[in-house]
Amino acid sequence: MNKLLEKYPQEVKRILAKYPPDHKRAAVMPLLYLAQKDQMYVSKQAMEDIAELLDITVTEVASIVGFYTLYYDEPAGKYRIQVCTDLPCALRGAETFLQKLCEKLGIEVGGTTEDGLITVERVMCLAACHHAPMFQVQSGDGLTYHEDQTVESALELIEELRQAAGRRNGHE
Ligand code: FES
Repeated sequence: MNKLLEKYPQEVKRILAKYPPDHKRAAVMPLLYLAQKDQMYVSKQAMEDIAELLDITVTEVASIVGFYTLYYDEPAGKYRIQVCTDLPCALRGAETFLQKLCEKLGIEVGGTTEDGLITVERVMCLAACHHAPMFQVQSGDGLTYHEDQTVESALELIEELRQAAGRRNGHE
């Protein structure tokens, strides 16, 4: 049974309806987005499901996941804090910011907090070089940008994310 179709029948049908049957492989991106929204990574099972829906190979699906930086094939936190440490940001203290933030959270760069909610990682230029330290937060809800940050402001935001996750779990 196709688990993605089983879990999101309406969404999958809506996505497939947007593409002509002989070009349905073009639906791979929105289907990957749908699959990742749930767990913040695309599982092997989800890749198999998408391949089956689109009549393409699992390797083709996996190669797309591997190519795009915002798709992941390994589990991590519910929220990915992506700190730019590219040169212009590094010159404005982004590396120190990243190290101190990780230290406060008790994780290594690339690691995930014990509650499984927050992953902090290093990324390349996010086009806000003059507002470093800056990061984006990627979650199942999309991306948000946070500029001119301090470790304190980042920790406040992380606390808000934790509370939002707690409220959401309470309603599930
Ligand atoms: S170098 Fe960091 S946003 Fe451009």
